[in-house]
This record gives sequence, structure tokens and C-alpha cells, in this order.
Amino acid sequence: MNKNRIAIVTGANKGLGYAVVKSLCKKFRGIVYLTSRDEKRGIEACKGLEKLGLKPVYHQLDITNETSIEKFRNHIQDKQIEVIINNAGILFQKDAPEPQLFQVEQTVLVNFFSLINFCEAMLPYITYDGKIVNISSSSGHLCRIPSEDLRKKFSSENLTLKELKSLINGYVEAVKRNEDLKEVWGESPYVVSKVGVNAYTFLLQRNLFSKGVKVNCIHPGYVISDMTRGSGNVTPEDAAEVVVKLALEPQDTGLYIWSNGKPVPWDGPDPRQYIDGKQIN
Ligand SMILES: NC(=O)c1ccc[n+]([C@@H]2O[C@H](COP(=O)([O-])OP(=O)(O)OC[C@H]3O[C@@H](n4cnc5c(N)ncnc54)[C@H](OP(=O)(O)O)[C@@H]3O)[C@@H](O)[C@H]2O)c1
Repeated sequence: MNKNRIAIVTGANKGLGYAVVKSLCKKFRGIVYLTSRDEKRGIEACKGLEKLGLKPVYHQLDITNETSIEKFRNHIQDKQIEVIINNAGILFQKDAPEPQLFQVEQTVLVNFFSLINFCEAMLPYITYDGKIVNISSSSGHLCRIPSEDLRKKFSSENLTLKELKSLINGYVEAVKRNEDLKEVWGESPYVVSKVGVNAYTFLLQRNLFSKGVKVNCIHPGYVISDMTRGSGNVTPEDAAEVVVKLALEPQDTGLYIWSNGKPVPWDGPDPRQYIDGKQIN
């Protein structure tokens, strides 16, 4: 094992992130960082894996907190990052009582802006041929945005990070103005946040291409976790295998991988087979 080579998983105290750490501990030839925003929950998760004979290393990391990112950055700065799994995420359920604006702001803060802040802070330490895997969703498919004009902006090959952030800020502003978003952004902040994650993936892939870093995103499937309130049709362990394969095996870059491990075109037809329990193709 090379102790200077590291893999990092965000939001790994439970669910898919925890399963990804478990799998990486068995397959990655370096140190695997299990990180969590809540220290107690993260240390408990590590203890669970230690009982299985695995040796993750714990570090606190709240991706929404600049100080927390800075402390983590200081901690890893003498190491080389081989793998980053940007997994931490939130979803407000349809019956969530919080006001719409709060849901919108929190969702794009955690899933989009904070993923980017954390990832950008790590870029100086990533090795040549390193891998960044952004955990997206079927909700990250471009077809989920109703406006053709917005779809063109998100998928432009010339899109800059500043322009992408400004697009998402524009969405938040539109919500603040109480605009009718149904035919423009759609009705789900989660969709907007994950489409933003995909757009960031492809933008970063273009920027890091010359450095050999592979940047991909993945829809992990309908995973049984707290996020789905225990429903779902794939275990975190099975979903993690596809994620870890993307992180460890030789790969192309700039891919949107579906839960079956196959790439799908981001701007192609909706790859979902079931929507709200109904078969669509
Ligand atoms: N489950 C699905 O069907 C499904 C489908 C498509 C995509 N995904 C994506 O897969 C990823 C993992 O989801 P999951 O199903 O495993 O959900 P989960 O069980 O709810 O786990 C989410 C994880 O993210 C962490 N987190 C939330 N905010 C954070 C922050 N500010 N900083 C650091 N960690 C934070 C949570 O920590 P706490 O325990 O402290 O809250 C938790 O560890 C998410 O990005 C989700 O959008 C899931």
C-alpha cells in the first residue's frame, strides 16, 4: 500500500458513500478517507468498517463549510489524490414542509456549489491520471430541463465555471421573484442541482484533459438509502460497485455513466425506463 496515495469519499457515513468506502478499502492500493459532516456519525461508520477488518481513515468534512474544507486541505496537502468521489448530497422529499425558496437554496448549495468548492480546493493535489467521480442522478440528464435555451447554455462546449454558477444563481433569483418555472427550469431543485453537477463534470473534464485527469459523472440507480426512505431497487453495495469501477479501472473521460455501467448521451433521449412506477420505453 502506498500511504501517500489517497482516495476521498464525501458524505460517507451512510448510504452509497459508506458502501463506496467499503469497496474502495478492499480494492484501492492506498489510503481511503471516509469523510462526514458529523464527526460522531463518521467515526461510528469507520468503527463499523474496522469490524470487517477494513482500515478507512476518518476526517471531518462538511462541504458547505469553508473552514472544514480548509482543514481537510491542510491535512492532505502532502499527499497525492488519486480518486475523489463527490457523493455528499441532499434531497427534499415532495412532502417536505420547508418553504420552496429554502429548499431551492439548500439543494443547490449542497449538491452543486459545495461540490464544486470542495472539488476545486482539491485540484492542486490530484495526480496525473487521477479520477474524479461526481455522483449525479437520472435527474442530472439534460432532458429534465424544459427550456431549450437553458439546455443549450448548459451543454455549450464554451461554458465557463463562472457562467455555470451564474446560470444556477439565475435559477435561485427566478424562484425569489416567484416566477412560473414549470416550462423553464421545471419544478425540482434537485434536478437543477444535478444538471449543474453534470455540466460541471464536462467543463472540468475539458479543463483537466491535458493533465490526464479523468472526470466522469454517474447515475447510481434507485438506491436503497435514507434518501429514498428505504425504497429503491438496488443495494448501496451493488450501486457502489459501478461507482468504484469507474474510479479504479481505466476509463475515458467526460462520460455520464448509467447505473448499468454504460455511458449515456447527456443530451440524448431520456434513458429512464420507469417514471413513478410506470414503464416509459
Ligand atoms: N438513493 C438514490 O436512489 C440516489 C439516486 C441517484 C443519486 N443519488 C445520489 O447519491 C448520493 C448519495 O445518496 P444516498 O442515497 O446515499 O443518500 P443518503 O443516505 O441520504 O446519504 C447522503 C450523505 O451525504 C451527506 N451530506 C449531506 N450534506 C452534507 C454536507 N454538507 N457535507 C458532507 N456530507 C453531507 C449525508 O450526511 P448526514 O448523514 O450527516 O446527513 C450522508 O452521509 C447523493 O449525491 C444522491 O443525490 C442517490
